[in-house]
Amino acid sequence: MQNKVKPNGTATLTVKGTTAELPVYSGTLGPDVIDIATLNKQTDHFTLDPGFTSTGSCESQITFIDGDKGILLHRGYPIDQLAEKSNYLEVCYLLLNGELPTASELEDYTTSITMHTMLHAQFDRFFEGFRRDAHPMAIMVGAVGALSAFYHDSTDITDPYQRLVAAHRMIAKMPTIAGRAHKYSIGQPFISPRNELDYASNFLRMCFAVPAEDYQVQEVMARAMDKIFILHADHEQNASTSTVRLAGSSGANPFACIAAGIACLWGPSHGGANEAALNMLQEIGTVDRIPEYVARAKDKSDPFRLMGFGHRVYKNYDPRAKVMQKTCHEVLEAVGHNNDPLLQVAMELEKIALEDPYFIDKKLYPNIDFYSGITLKAMGFPTEMFTVLFALARTVGWIAQWQEMIEDPTQRIGRPRQIYTGAPMRDYKPVGAR
Ligand code: CMC
Repeated sequence: MQNKVKPNGTATLTVKGTTAELPVYSGTLGPDVIDIATLNKQTDHFTLDPGFTSTGSCESQITFIDGDKGILLHRGYPIDQLAEKSNYLEVCYLLLNGELPTASELEDYTTSITMHTMLHAQFDRFFEGFRRDAHPMAIMVGAVGALSAFYHDSTDITDPYQRLVAAHRMIAKMPTIAGRAHKYSIGQPFISPRNELDYASNFLRMCFAVPAEDYQVQEVMARAMDKIFILHADHEQNASTSTVRLAGSSGANPFACIAAGIACLWGPSHGGANEAALNMLQEIGTVDRIPEYVARAKDKSDPFRLMGFGHRVYKNYDPRAKVMQKTCHEVLEAVGHNNDPLLQVAMELEKIALEDPYFIDKKLYPNIDFYSGITLKAMGFPTEMFTVLFALARTVGWIAQWQEMIEDPTQRIGRPRQIYTGAPMRDYKPVGAR
């Protein structure tokens, strides 16, 4: 254990007559943890927890979630306060540095990010290697991994300055890469970043401007985009963040680690859920078909799940979903889609599911993805871009967690064990004797 945990007694575990004394630690918030690091040494047993439902993988000071109460804090600050009062770059600074910046720190940080938004000119040609119909997440995995081939001077993870430059580069360049992934897939020319625009506006312009016409970013859209970025910025030790930490634990360079995180995020149980939730709402189509889909979600013999419902950690309303619901209404009002049938299906589905004993008993509440898909669609993004936006926003969380791990003096390569249930040892037989 690193440095901020306090010893809080011991747990005793007896297995086949051997007793192990295991330290118990208290963090600032949340349940105590039993440190099982010496269990194998003491008892010659491993623990087994395939989906990590009872396993903490690290000590962290970045994000806290209380899933039962629906609380999400970044460096102690509640997510709703950050979404209402802060902005994405300030939240990035907070996640990376532990404290909110002073005015001059924020100015310096914003300038540094703004000055790193351009990509190496040769990098643009890299996109052309992909088929036009490539999923933009496929492009993101490849392009972000390829950053390590372009920016060698920020891949030495033992050098704090190089780590800082890599962090700034990724946060700055991710919108440019994501904008290009979108433009490439629709066959439009790439739009370069503009330094006078804020982070969210710049990204929207890179996605929606065309060289033939000037493009004005609507304030309500820029605000919504910024909020979506804040709401996705970090989420503790989820699958993609754990992937980044595990990749980083081997000493891999930061660009490669973030590419690994993007690959993990792509799955429909994780970041791909907003795309899947919107597809599901479209498939349901009208309010009268909701009961049929709710019945399917409850049917154990049907693999169908209500996308955008349920969460491994939140057994209460996802606090991000509350903010997202409000933003969703603001955007739909701005684009004149307030009577959008998709939203009507979403609202009714939410109501029905929240009153249904199946969902109540299993504590399945709408998660952030339930509303983010509708919002992003109304903003003009194609569904394939939804997870890309999640990856863009989560990049800072991944980097903050990666950096925390690298700076932990007790850090070792992550190497879980297993229970082996394959064939026992047996002798090889030549092919003619099988
Ligand atoms: N619809 C219907 N039943 C569900 C759903 C759902 N969306 N989610 C969970 N259940 C049921 C599940 O069948 C199981 O029932 P039983 O106990 O009878 O077997 C029970 O609830 C517990 O589910 P689980 O799969 O053991 O829970 P988990 O913690 O492993 O999975 C989850 C969490 C998010 C993968 C899952 O709730 C799910 O697949 N939801 C839909 C996909 C989704 O919206 N994902 C976005 C997550 S939020 C964004 C992010 O963090 O990436």
